[in-house]
Amino acid sequence: MSKDFEQMESSNDSTNATIHAVSDPARRVFVQGGMAALATGVLAPWLTGYATSAQAAQPLFTFKSIPTAMTDAVVVPDGYTAEAIAPWGEPVGIAGNMPAFKADASNNAAEQAAQVGMHHDGIHYYPLDGSRRGLLVFNNEYTDDGLLHPGGMANWSAEKVRKSQAAHGVTVIEIEARDGRWQMVQPSRFARRHTAASPFTLQGPAAGHSLMRTAADPAGRTVLGTLNNCASSKTPWGTYLSGEENFMNYFDGGDALDPHQRRWGLRKTGFYRWPLHDERFNAVKHPNESNRFGWVVEIDPMDPTATPIKRTALGRAAHEGAWVAVTKDHRAVVYSGEDARFEYIYKFVSRDPIAPGGAKANRELLDRGTLHVARFDEDGTGRWLPMVHGQGPLTAANGFADQGEILIKTRQASDLLGATKMDRPEWIAIHPQTGEIYCTLTHNSARGAKDMPATDAANPRQDNVMGHIIRWKEAADFDAPTFTWNHLVLAGDPAATRAEAKGNIKGDIFACPDGIAFDARGVLWIQTDVSASAMYKGKMERIGNNQMLACDPRTGEIRRFLTGPTNCEITGLTWTPDYRTMFVNIQHPGETPSERSDPEQPDRYSRWPGNTAGARPRSATVVIRKRDGGVIGI
Ligand code: FEO
Ligand code: CA
Ligand code: CA
Repeated sequence: MSKDFEQMESSNDSTNATIHAVSDPARRVFVQGGMAALATGVLAPWLTGYATSAQAAQPLFTFKSIPTAMTDAVVVPDGYTAEAIAPWGEPVGIAGNMPAFKADASNNAAEQAAQVGMHHDGIHYYPLDGSRRGLLVFNNEYTDDGLLHPGGMANWSAEKVRKSQAAHGVTVIEIEARDGRWQMVQPSRFARRHTAASPFTLQGPAAGHSLMRTAADPAGRTVLGTLNNCASSKTPWGTYLSGEENFMNYFDGGDALDPHQRRWGLRKTGFYRWPLHDERFNAVKHPNESNRFGWVVEIDPMDPTATPIKRTALGRAAHEGAWVAVTKDHRAVVYSGEDARFEYIYKFVSRDPIAPGGAKANRELLDRGTLHVARFDEDGTGRWLPMVHGQGPLTAANGFADQGEILIKTRQASDLLGATKMDRPEWIAIHPQTGEIYCTLTHNSARGAKDMPATDAANPRQDNVMGHIIRWKEAADFDAPTFTWNHLVLAGDPAATRAEAKGNIKGDIFACPDGIAFDARGVLWIQTDVSASAMYKGKMERIGNNQMLACDPRTGEIRRFLTGPTNCEITGLTWTPDYRTMFVNIQHPGETPSERSDPEQPDRYSRWPGNTAGARPRSATVVIRKRDGGVIGI
């Protein structure tokens, strides 16, 4: 979501980790010098051999860069095609329940629950027949209620709340390549929706905790719904991990927020108006309900009968998403971050190894293990701080009765541990060859502002409107307690007038990195999310529409591959196993600066993908192929 909830969501007023030195000369050289300085510097010995061997290697991509754009279309390089499928409102393909999309948005809530949700985000392909047929599982992050209902927010009703809830969550569809084109399979026995009203099981140390119990669920073990699902990943055992991000915006907190609610960004009145017709989102009446969101959700795409699970051992956060690495002895290491200003990066290390046998054999894998939070030190090293009850400051005397309370109050625990406050951690990607872990820090205009945390080595720019990408390498294996780190790139535009908005991109300009993923060859694909309210002016004037770029992490070269329709965000990408089809999500084409469209003029900014007068713009998945059938990017 591009919504700059940072204005509301800046609830970290703890005093830890703001004392990092602002400027380290060695690091400045390193940042500005790119890989050459990096390869010879003492800060990153782990990359030296990699960079050297890369010099003789073939280029990772050969497509011709495309220019920035301000057109209402998806543009890809010569030799490629891009076609939209699975737009918001398309029937997902439940047998006997395939309501057609109504262009005036007059489908009711029950119909929406059988249709593709709104505002696509993280996405993954699960093969059924290799690269010819499979499932697409993707998040539907939030709703623009100005587009979702005829009349928008006017005459707000229980039915409109139910429709908004039905348009949230996760969509599972089956697709196949037929006659040379990818199409939805309707009906499919796999097709389904998990919405903001469907059941989820809580597992792990916080399941059943007193802070998780509500009037409707006195056991504290079953939650209705998943919310604001942002990024996603595929686990090595075949499941789908989805992050619940800005859940706080769904709750009305009333006039007397307690310190816990304030730390988690609840406000008197939330952005969505669900509490008016669904009382559980009234945090005055039901103070524990918000504790039941902000988790990483695990879904087994191949089993439509399985209830998805919220994994409390991974900690609660405004989770962008969660990504799995595997230790040499086959334990799962789950990296995650919290996309809010001055929040943290986390790592969970499972106690047990991944079992052979797929999803069912690993149903409890992510329930036992140790959560850590990251501290990035100014010398280019870092440390994972364990979040274990009774260790260090995480005691009953400091307000943590047990491990469950630490996991529910992850932010407060991280504050006490002295973790590093980051510039809004978004997606994480793990390099398939080197094991480096990359994380986008999308932007943070409050960095260095009055009464806000100062710059530090990891977040080096005041008023960081352009964002950056940080990367680290674990000391030995993924479960290591220490790491070394550096920056891949500081985003920006060399033509910007303010020095700190120029960045150090080697190649095509962009701002606000968000989605990232590696393909099997080690290309880092970078997607951007400049808010519609910031586009086309000032520092963003030359950046154009949101876009996707390819980066060769060996050299730092960045090349623009795709530009999106007007005011959209590019977010979420996946491939078929042969890497000859790429799926990319286009979220909120035509977004208005207020992020709620005018129902009288839904096509004011965009008509994508239908491109007919008056048509509502619809988030959708774009299928990208090379005309010659080759591997994407080469
Ligand atoms: Fe949903 Fe942090 O973007
Ligand atoms: Ca974002
Ligand atoms: Ca995002």
